[in-house]
Amino acid sequence: MNRPITTARRSILRRFAAGVLLGLLPLTALAADPLRIGLILPLTGPFASTGKQIEAAVRLYSAKNGDTVAGRKVQLIVKDDTGVAPETTKRIAQELVVQDKVNVLAGFGLTPLALAAAPVATEAKIPMVVMAAATSIIPSKSPMIVRSGFTLPQITGPIADWAAKNRIKRVVTMVTDYGPGIDAEKTFIARFKAGGGEVVESIRTPLRNPDYAPFLQRAKDAKPDALFVFVPSGEGLAVMKQFDDRGLKQAGIRLIGTGDVTDDDLLENMGAAAVGVITSFHYSAAHDSPENKAYVDAFTRANNGMRPNFHSVGGYDGMNLIYEAVKKTGGTANGEALVEAMKGLKWVSPRGPMAIDPASRDVVQTVYLREVKIVNGKPWNVEFDKVENVRDPGN
Ligand code: PHB
Repeated sequence: MNRPITTARRSILRRFAAGVLLGLLPLTALAADPLRIGLILPLTGPFASTGKQIEAAVRLYSAKNGDTVAGRKVQLIVKDDTGVAPETTKRIAQELVVQDKVNVLAGFGLTPLALAAAPVATEAKIPMVVMAAATSIIPSKSPMIVRSGFTLPQITGPIADWAAKNRIKRVVTMVTDYGPGIDAEKTFIARFKAGGGEVVESIRTPLRNPDYAPFLQRAKDAKPDALFVFVPSGEGLAVMKQFDDRGLKQAGIRLIGTGDVTDDDLLENMGAAAVGVITSFHYSAAHDSPENKAYVDAFTRANNGMRPNFHSVGGYDGMNLIYEAVKKTGGTANGEALVEAMKGLKWVSPRGPMAIDPASRDVVQTVYLREVKIVNGKPWNVEFDKVENVRDPGN
């Protein structure tokens, strides 16, 4: 059936034909299409703080860098996957690809959710920027995955080395029983043993509805010099409270861990109980650099005083990765070309210098040792040492 051509349409067609004749149109037409980014985050449920932090950072990035890149308007489509149902994340990823025709998938608050979406990215050949989920194996699950956050083996090694060198001989490990926790446990045990330490007990706590009290009692009964902890972002406050209530500190047991435990999003609520906790991590809101000062200031102002945490920089740097890749491809959003363009990118983030390893598509970054101290009346993760250019060592 022939549709009637209105005057307006006729004029568009005439301009289109002129464009083709001039050899201009294929590029300009592509450039005029918006660049659609599908952001899948836990915005409700037990891990809602991860979604809230990443969404705030992504919006801040656009506000600071403009909502157009290489001539393309950036269109953000934000979806809540509730954080606990991998099949929901997968369905949302499929809908974003098929119905919303996104050019990039991004977000992914927890490992099981990233793993569920990986086959969708592979099949659709759409880049998948993993901003939060941190189990080592994730980028190996799809050639379209690039990670902008961190990996557990990468950030766990330095605290194990520090403990072995600082008169800590006997440690109990306590980790959440899923991918990142198991990565943290394996890495801690291997590195601490290599440094001459002994792991006397390894405890795994459930991901869903954990009650840390009985596990911390077990840890206390083992009388270690220190307890090493990994729990995902959002859980640190409950651990800290039970550690305090059960009197582990008074029993002479030190708390050490990955920085997920002294999460900047929760640290102010932990107060004095957190003081003295030593962790290794890739981001502290107290990181002393002009880039971070500007970031914390802008983030706090735009979000009612909320302090940015490590997931926020995963989101902010994930956006930088997308913007820089689109600039490199001159505005084309071919998925494989974008992933190619992301490989080897280097930049200075609020967290410090970082890069994408072209072989693994994983993040290479500085890992800092930090101690919780009260500064100007508030607890902060104050950095006191660092290891540069740390890759994911695998597990
Ligand atoms: C993960 O599920 O991979 C994850 C989530 C939160 C963290 C770390 C790892 O803090």
